[in-house]
Amino acid sequence: MIEKELYGIASLHGNKGRKVSKYTLSSEGSSVTAVLCDYGARILDIRVRMPDGSVRSAVLGHPSLGVYERAPGYLGALVGRTGNRTAGGRFSLDGKEYTLFRNDGNNSLHGGERGFDKKIYKARIRDSAEPSVTFSAVSPDGEEGYPGELRYSLKYTLCGNGLLLTYTAESDARTVINLTNHVYFNLAGGGHIGKHLLCTDADRYLPTDRELIPTGELKPVAGTAFDFRKPRRFSSALRSGDPDIATAGGLDHCFVFPGDYTKARRMKRHISVVSPEGDLTLNVSTDRPGVQIYSGNFLGGRRFRLRDGSPEKRRGGFCLETEAFPDSANRREFTDIVLEPGRTYRSRTLYAFVTG
Ligand code: BGC
Repeated sequence: MIEKELYGIASLHGNKGRKVSKYTLSSEGSSVTAVLCDYGARILDIRVRMPDGSVRSAVLGHPSLGVYERAPGYLGALVGRTGNRTAGGRFSLDGKEYTLFRNDGNNSLHGGERGFDKKIYKARIRDSAEPSVTFSAVSPDGEEGYPGELRYSLKYTLCGNGLLLTYTAESDARTVINLTNHVYFNLAGGGHIGKHLLCTDADRYLPTDRELIPTGELKPVAGTAFDFRKPRRFSSALRSGDPDIATAGGLDHCFVFPGDYTKARRMKRHISVVSPEGDLTLNVSTDRPGVQIYSGNFLGGRRFRLRDGSPEKRRGGFCLETEAFPDSANRREFTDIVLEPGRTYRSRTLYAFVTG
């Protein structure tokens, strides 16, 4: 079932006066309800029905459209054209230099000034046993400094007890693309994330410099605080004193899944996270070569409100941003994020929940 309602009237980021809708996806066979919105193609909420009949919000959200427009945390948003940082806010392609908007010191973060998180999308609804909403838009040639007119979409499908994210994009000229979603999970429904148990088969990670730009090294996790190949609490890494974690101010690193990251990959489960009480598990499957594991280190800086009226708090949520490696536009030895005209970029990630 899909319920569509007016969510609010936009007032910022070039959207003034435009209507924003929210979409609630539910299904008889599913204990998960997803609430989406066409501003930023966002996940506003993922509610999980627990075995005792209670309902738990497993992701962070703000209380209103106005807060989403003002808060800088990208809660639940589609991020693009390129997720994470592009060093120096520039890159070259085919001998031409492209300049991006520098919205993070000297660097460009999550697509620039008016990234994909700030657009209002066209929504196509498909109501069935697996209800879906497809958000789509056209990014004009040169938008935020990126070449090529890009037609792109993000489809959310309620599948079993999970939410499947399917991204597609096509460009009329060679360009770069690295789409992701910035939803923050908190499987306890609130509080500090430290006691969540994280497990991922990622066997390498990308250390960063002080500006959070990958240094170029692919470092084995073995023997480091980044080794989550056996379940460990977030807090064990955050408190480890590891120099790379200290430099980044917490976990804010791209973890690299095993296998050849230069080749197309099949969808596979790579991450699971268990709530502190052990009553809710999130399993993440993806065809991306890596994931930015971000422990919400910058959350709470300006104390924007959360859905329940409480202020956003540092480390009150974690993101699992499945993606190609950050700054791949400048590091051709990293993942290939060039999209050729006539080709289709496709990527899939499933966030699936298990209770009990
Ligand atoms: C990045 C953080 C950044 C945050 C913004 C994350 O994806 O890894 O470094 O500050 O997004 O909310």
